[in-house]
Amino acid sequence: MVDIKGLYKVGIDEIDAEHDAISKAGYDIHMRLMRGESSDVLLPLLRDYVGLIDRHFSNEERLAENLGKDHVKQHVCEHQRILEDLAQHVESLPDQELSRWKHGFIAMLDGLYRHVVVYDRILARDITGRT
Ligand SMILES: [Fe+2]
Ligand SMILES: [Fe+2]
Repeated sequence: MVDIKGLYKVGIDEIDAEHDAISKAGYDIHMRLMRGESSDVLLPLLRDYVGLIDRHFSNEERLAENLGKDHVKQHVCEHQRILEDLAQHVESLPDQELSRWKHGFIAMLDGLYRHVVVYDRILARDITGRT
């Protein structure tokens, strides 16, 4: 998905750049899936994608560390849930029927965008002190 109207910008350059990289990598994988590329080609890319998201989550958690806000704990739990679900889904690629797998992957991409809107925006607001 291309962020045409900046809907997913949170206003912190470092986080926005990481979100852009994740979005572009997810879009690239989605296009490859649509072109029918094989699991052998896709699996290493998907594992890199999981690594990219893992590093981004760690970075957000580092930025949130000293905020002392209640929602940070829930945010970190969401990161763990997303990462575990995604990693599990990626590793199930060779064993699942492809159209069903694609459907699950697209739902996970949607979940990532939802996370930015529901969690990252609040976090960014607290980091920058904006109201
Ligand atoms: Fe994020
Ligand atoms: Fe987050």
